[in-house]
Amino acid sequence: MAKQKVLVAGASGYLGRHVVREFATRGYSVRALVRSREKLTEEGPNFEPAVAEVIEEIVIGDATDTPSLKDTCKEVDIVFSCMGLTKPQHDITSEQIDYLGNKALLKDALANGVRKFIYISVFNSDKMMDSEMVKSHELFVQELLASGMPYTVIRPTAYFNDMGMFFSFARKGHVFLFGDGSNRFNPIHGADLSKICVDVAEVEGNSEIAVGGPDIYTYDETNLMAFEALGMEPKITHLPLWIGDIVLFAIGLINKPLKSIISFALSVSRIDNVAPATGTRHLKEFFRELATKGG
Ligand SMILES: NC(=O)c1ccc[n+]([C@@H]2O[C@H](COP(=O)([O-])OP(=O)(O)OC[C@H]3O[C@@H](n4cnc5c(N)ncnc54)[C@H](OP(=O)(O)O)[C@@H]3O)[C@@H](O)[C@H]2O)c1
Repeated sequence: MAKQKVLVAGASGYLGRHVVREFATRGYSVRALVRSREKLTEEGPNFEPAVAEVIEEIVIGDATDTPSLKDTCKEVDIVFSCMGLTKPQHDITSEQIDYLGNKALLKDALANGVRKFIYISVFNSDKMMDSEMVKSHELFVQELLASGMPYTVIRPTAYFNDMGMFFSFARKGHVFLFGDGSNRFNPIHGADLSKICVDVAEVEGNSEIAVGGPDIYTYDETNLMAFEALGMEPKITHLPLWIGDIVLFAIGLINKPLKSIISFALSVSRIDNVAPATGTRHLKEFFRELATKGG
């Protein structure tokens, strides 16, 4: 039997690279949709694997240039998309990438007879609709559910690459946290999450799945662990959430893309984010590896 072909959109990202590797390991033919080939060839700062060698085809496309996505789904069986805005891009909003970019990809998937679309949204999205990023994810989810395309929507908590960001603040000597640091969450390693992403490709029927990692921590515990891995005296300053709201308002006047990212960080800081646990990789070990690497 011919190999199943999967298009991975967002293949150069943290989750994307783990998912590419997992699909390839399980015998799929992987087509990667990326803006540039660069990140595919070497390990990333949070141990994202180099995947160039396991990818069968690379297509170049940009979510903000929707004609560039045309026919990216040609002869594809499954589309997996974790294409999203997680870092500020000049003059680009979450709506353009998370919503409209994925909508254009879905249109192409429908036109090319793709048999399933797997999409990465966010856990607890219903509690964070004030975040433009979350709203954009959910606008796309509505399109997907209404399209008639068979789907799975995966709703993960935070990934270890976001924890890598806390780690790099700790390395600089001082962490500033919005809120009192007591909210709980269970972050997940990209390799653990990628197994769920590929498992669902093999299951018929529509579904929505919430996923978190094996250990539950508060934000304070997470940052204390980062300082401990570095052998440094912890310095954590809690900023009241209302200060975050003022900062967000001021940033929104001058830099909409940055506002989108910060508003997500603030929304996440206001609630517990504990999803059904899976995976075997622990944040403590990830921080130890980062400390060893010097990254
Ligand atoms: N990180 C978390 O904690 C977390 C938690 C829950 C849900 N999510 C969601 O999961 C998804 C993946 O997250 P991640 O942490 O793996 O993010 P990431 O490392 O930033 O990866 C995002 C991917 O989207 C691509 N992308 C961005 N702008 C694009 C554009 N204009 N055209 C085409 N591709 C574009 C990136 O390409 P480049 O490499 O070229 O930038 C990259 O491949 C996102 O939708 C995010 O909202 C993340």
